[in-house]
Amino acid sequence: MTGGVLVVEHPLVRHRLVALRDETTESATFRQLVHEISTFVAYEALQDLATEQVSVRTPVGVATCTKVAETVLLVPILRAGLGMVPAIQELLPYTEVAHVGLRRDEVTLRSEVYLDRLPRDLTGRRVVVCDPMLATGGSLAQVCDLVVSRGASEVQALCLIASMPGIERFRQSHPELPVACAVVDPELNGNGFIVPGLGDAGDRLFGPPS
Ligand code: PRP
Repeated sequence: MTGGVLVVEHPLVRHRLVALRDETTESATFRQLVHEISTFVAYEALQDLATEQVSVRTPVGVATCTKVAETVLLVPILRAGLGMVPAIQELLPYTEVAHVGLRRDEVTLRSEVYLDRLPRDLTGRRVVVCDPMLATGGSLAQVCDLVVSRGASEVQALCLIASMPGIERFRQSHPELPVACAVVDPELNGNGFIVPGLGDAGDRLFGPPS
Protein backbone atom coordinates (compact mmCIF):
# COMPACT_ATOMS: atom_id res chain seq x y z
CA MET A 1 0.00 0.00 0.00
CA THR A 2 1.18 3.53 -0.80
CA GLY A 3 -0.86 6.44 0.57
CA GLY A 4 -3.73 4.03 1.24
CA VAL A 5 -3.62 2.82 -2.37
CA LEU A 6 -3.19 -0.87 -3.23
CA VAL A 7 -0.15 -1.09 -5.53
CA VAL A 8 0.07 -4.36 -7.44
CA GLU A 9 3.81 -4.90 -7.43
CA HIS A 10 4.03 -8.36 -8.95
CA PRO A 11 7.16 -8.85 -11.09
CA LEU A 12 4.96 -9.61 -14.11
CA VAL A 13 3.32 -6.22 -13.71
CA ARG A 14 6.63 -4.43 -13.20
CA HIS A 15 8.02 -6.13 -16.29
CA ARG A 16 5.14 -4.84 -18.41
CA LEU A 17 5.51 -1.33 -17.01
CA VAL A 18 8.90 -1.04 -18.69
CA ALA A 19 7.39 -1.10 -22.17
CA LEU A 20 4.26 0.78 -21.07
CA ARG A 21 6.42 3.73 -20.01
CA ASP A 22 8.81 3.53 -22.96
CA GLU A 23 8.17 6.41 -25.36
CA THR A 24 9.14 4.20 -28.33
CA THR A 25 6.40 1.63 -27.64
CA GLU A 26 3.90 1.76 -30.49
CA SER A 27 0.19 2.17 -29.92
CA ALA A 28 -0.85 -1.44 -30.60
CA THR A 29 1.62 -2.75 -28.04
CA PHE A 30 0.65 -0.01 -25.58
CA ARG A 31 -3.02 -1.08 -25.86
CA GLN A 32 -2.07 -4.71 -25.27
CA LEU A 33 -0.04 -3.77 -22.19
CA VAL A 34 -2.89 -1.67 -20.80
CA HIS A 35 -5.10 -4.73 -21.29
CA GLU A 36 -2.71 -7.10 -19.54
CA ILE A 37 -1.86 -4.83 -16.61
CA SER A 38 -5.54 -4.02 -16.13
CA THR A 39 -6.19 -7.74 -15.71
CA PHE A 40 -3.60 -8.02 -12.95
CA VAL A 41 -4.78 -4.88 -11.12
CA ALA A 42 -8.44 -5.91 -11.31
CA TYR A 43 -7.66 -9.45 -10.18
CA GLU A 44 -5.95 -8.16 -7.04
CA ALA A 45 -8.39 -5.36 -6.31
CA LEU A 46 -11.62 -7.34 -6.66
CA GLN A 47 -10.92 -10.10 -4.15
CA ASP A 48 -13.98 -9.12 -2.12
CA LEU A 49 -16.53 -9.76 -4.88
CA ALA A 50 -19.74 -11.17 -3.43
CA THR A 51 -19.99 -14.92 -3.88
CA GLU A 52 -22.51 -17.74 -3.42
CA GLN A 53 -22.18 -21.45 -2.84
CA VAL A 54 -23.30 -23.82 -5.59
CA SER A 55 -23.18 -27.56 -6.07
CA VAL A 56 -21.82 -29.04 -9.25
CA ARG A 57 -21.88 -32.65 -10.32
CA THR A 58 -18.43 -33.83 -11.38
CA PRO A 59 -17.87 -37.14 -13.23
CA VAL A 60 -17.29 -38.80 -9.84
CA GLY A 61 -19.35 -36.91 -7.28
CA VAL A 62 -20.75 -33.58 -6.14
CA ALA A 63 -18.53 -30.60 -5.34
CA THR A 64 -19.53 -27.55 -3.37
CA CYS A 65 -18.16 -24.55 -5.24
CA THR A 66 -18.19 -20.78 -5.10
CA LYS A 67 -19.54 -18.47 -7.81
CA VAL A 68 -19.42 -14.71 -8.19
CA ALA A 69 -22.83 -13.38 -7.24
CA GLU A 70 -22.80 -9.71 -8.17
CA THR A 71 -22.89 -7.54 -11.25
CA VAL A 72 -20.27 -4.82 -11.31
CA LEU A 73 -20.92 -1.53 -13.08
CA LEU A 74 -17.73 -0.46 -14.85
CA VAL A 75 -17.40 3.28 -15.33
CA PRO A 76 -14.57 4.09 -17.73
CA ILE A 77 -13.48 7.73 -17.81
CA LEU A 78 -13.20 8.57 -21.53
CA ARG A 79 -11.16 8.28 -23.36
CA ALA A 80 -8.31 6.43 -21.69
CA GLY A 81 -10.49 4.40 -19.32
CA LEU A 82 -11.89 2.55 -22.34
CA GLY A 83 -8.54 0.80 -22.69
CA MET A 84 -9.10 -1.00 -19.38
CA VAL A 85 -12.66 -2.20 -19.95
CA PRO A 86 -12.20 -5.28 -22.18
CA ALA A 87 -9.74 -6.86 -19.76
CA ILE A 88 -12.04 -6.39 -16.77
CA GLN A 89 -15.05 -7.62 -18.76
CA GLU A 90 -13.12 -10.77 -19.63
CA LEU A 91 -12.20 -11.29 -16.00
CA LEU A 92 -15.60 -10.76 -14.38
CA PRO A 93 -18.61 -12.94 -15.15
CA TYR A 94 -21.20 -10.17 -14.79
CA THR A 95 -20.56 -6.57 -15.79
CA GLU A 96 -22.37 -3.56 -17.18
CA VAL A 97 -20.67 -0.44 -18.52
CA ALA A 98 -21.63 3.23 -18.15
CA HIS A 99 -19.40 5.80 -19.82
CA VAL A 100 -18.38 9.19 -18.46
CA GLY A 101 -16.39 11.57 -20.66
CA LEU A 102 -14.06 14.12 -19.11
CA ARG A 103 -11.75 16.54 -20.79
CA ARG A 104 -8.98 18.14 -18.80
CA ASP A 105 -8.31 21.77 -19.66
CA GLU A 106 -4.59 21.92 -20.39
CA VAL A 107 -4.21 25.35 -18.80
CA THR A 108 -6.37 25.19 -15.68
CA LEU A 109 -6.00 21.37 -15.36
CA ARG A 110 -9.68 21.29 -14.32
CA SER A 111 -11.84 18.55 -15.85
CA GLU A 112 -15.14 19.18 -17.59
CA VAL A 113 -17.80 16.49 -18.05
CA TYR A 114 -18.79 16.21 -21.73
CA LEU A 115 -20.63 12.87 -21.51
CA ASP A 116 -22.60 11.41 -18.63
CA ARG A 117 -24.18 8.03 -19.35
CA LEU A 118 -24.34 6.99 -15.70
CA PRO A 119 -27.72 5.69 -14.57
CA ARG A 120 -29.58 8.37 -12.58
CA ASP A 121 -30.06 5.94 -9.70
CA LEU A 122 -27.14 3.81 -8.58
CA THR A 123 -28.66 2.76 -5.27
CA GLY A 124 -27.15 -0.50 -4.12
CA ARG A 125 -24.81 -0.78 -7.10
CA ARG A 126 -21.17 -1.79 -6.94
CA VAL A 127 -19.19 0.57 -9.17
CA VAL A 128 -15.64 0.30 -10.44
CA VAL A 129 -14.30 3.52 -11.97
CA CYS A 130 -11.56 2.87 -14.53
CA ASP A 131 -8.91 5.36 -15.61
CA PRO A 132 -5.29 4.42 -16.38
CA MET A 133 -3.99 7.73 -15.02
CA LEU A 134 -4.54 9.38 -11.67
CA ALA A 135 -2.52 12.56 -12.29
CA THR A 136 -3.84 15.54 -10.30
CA GLY A 137 -6.69 13.27 -9.17
CA GLY A 138 -9.29 15.81 -10.30
CA SER A 139 -10.95 13.63 -12.95
CA LEU A 140 -11.27 10.62 -10.70
CA ALA A 141 -12.58 12.71 -7.80
CA GLN A 142 -15.18 14.31 -10.07
CA VAL A 143 -16.46 10.98 -11.38
CA CYS A 144 -16.52 9.48 -7.89
CA ASP A 145 -18.52 12.55 -6.73
CA LEU A 146 -21.10 11.76 -9.43
CA VAL A 147 -21.24 8.05 -8.65
CA VAL A 148 -21.54 8.56 -4.91
CA SER A 149 -24.17 11.28 -5.31
CA ARG A 150 -26.34 8.80 -7.26
CA GLY A 151 -26.34 6.35 -4.39
CA ALA A 152 -23.79 3.64 -5.27
CA SER A 153 -23.21 1.46 -2.23
CA GLU A 154 -19.66 0.43 -3.09
CA VAL A 155 -17.27 2.46 -5.21
CA GLN A 156 -13.66 1.77 -6.01
CA ALA A 157 -11.15 2.99 -8.58
CA LEU A 158 -8.77 1.01 -10.75
CA CYS A 159 -5.84 2.86 -12.33
CA LEU A 160 -2.56 1.84 -13.84
CA ILE A 161 -0.35 4.74 -12.81
CA ALA A 162 -0.90 7.31 -10.05
CA SER A 163 1.03 10.29 -8.77
CA MET A 164 1.68 10.87 -5.09
CA PRO A 165 0.22 14.42 -5.19
CA GLY A 166 -2.83 13.06 -7.06
CA ILE A 167 -3.44 10.41 -4.44
CA GLU A 168 -3.20 13.02 -1.70
CA ARG A 169 -5.69 15.27 -3.48
CA PHE A 170 -8.07 12.40 -4.20
CA ARG A 171 -7.92 11.36 -0.57
CA GLN A 172 -9.09 14.82 0.50
CA SER A 173 -12.38 14.38 -1.36
CA HIS A 174 -12.81 10.60 -1.00
CA PRO A 175 -10.80 9.40 2.00
CA GLU A 176 -12.49 6.01 2.20
CA LEU A 177 -12.74 4.85 -1.41
CA PRO A 178 -10.41 1.98 -2.33
CA VAL A 179 -7.97 2.72 -5.15
CA ALA A 180 -5.68 0.20 -6.83
CA CYS A 181 -2.96 0.77 -9.39
CA ALA A 182 0.21 -0.78 -10.76
CA VAL A 183 2.67 1.95 -9.80
CA VAL A 184 2.89 5.28 -7.98
CA ASP A 185 5.20 7.98 -9.30
CA PRO A 186 6.52 10.80 -7.14
CA GLU A 187 5.48 13.97 -8.90
CA LEU A 188 3.64 15.98 -11.53
CA ASN A 189 5.13 18.48 -13.94
CA GLY A 190 3.74 21.96 -14.55
CA ASN A 191 1.34 20.58 -17.17
CA GLY A 192 -0.16 18.10 -14.74
CA PHE A 193 1.58 15.09 -16.28
CA ILE A 194 2.85 12.29 -14.09
CA VAL A 195 6.67 12.25 -13.91
CA PRO A 196 8.31 10.07 -15.06
CA GLY A 197 4.93 8.53 -15.95
CA LEU A 198 4.08 7.25 -19.40
CA GLY A 199 2.87 10.39 -21.21
CA ASP A 200 -0.79 10.77 -22.13
CA ALA A 201 -2.52 7.38 -21.96
CA GLY A 202 -5.49 8.56 -24.04
CA ASP A 203 -3.27 9.75 -26.87
CA ARG A 204 -1.11 6.64 -26.75
CA LEU A 205 -4.19 4.39 -26.89
CA PHE A 206 -6.28 6.29 -29.40
CA GLY A 207 -4.22 9.06 -31.00
CA PRO A 208 -4.52 12.83 -30.50
CA PRO A 209 -7.96 14.10 -29.43
CA SER A 210 -10.11 15.67 -32.15
C1 PRP B 1 -6.17 12.18 -18.83
C2 PRP B 1 -6.21 10.79 -18.22
C3 PRP B 1 -7.17 10.97 -17.08
C4 PRP B 1 -6.93 12.38 -16.65
C5 PRP B 1 -6.07 12.36 -15.44
O1 PRP B 1 -7.28 12.34 -19.65
O2 PRP B 1 -6.62 9.82 -19.13
O3 PRP B 1 -8.53 10.81 -17.42
O4 PRP B 1 -6.24 13.05 -17.71
O5 PRP B 1 -5.79 13.64 -15.05
P1 PRP B 1 -6.16 14.24 -13.64
O6 PRP B 1 -5.90 13.18 -12.63
O7 PRP B 1 -5.22 15.40 -13.52
O8 PRP B 1 -7.59 14.67 -13.67
P2 PRP B 1 -7.35 13.47 -20.76
O9 PRP B 1 -8.04 14.69 -20.23
O10 PRP B 1 -6.00 13.67 -21.38
O11 PRP B 1 -8.36 12.86 -21.79
P3 PRP B 1 -8.22 11.58 -22.74
O12 PRP B 1 -8.28 10.35 -21.87
O13 PRP B 1 -9.38 11.72 -23.65
O14 PRP B 1 -6.89 11.68 -23.48
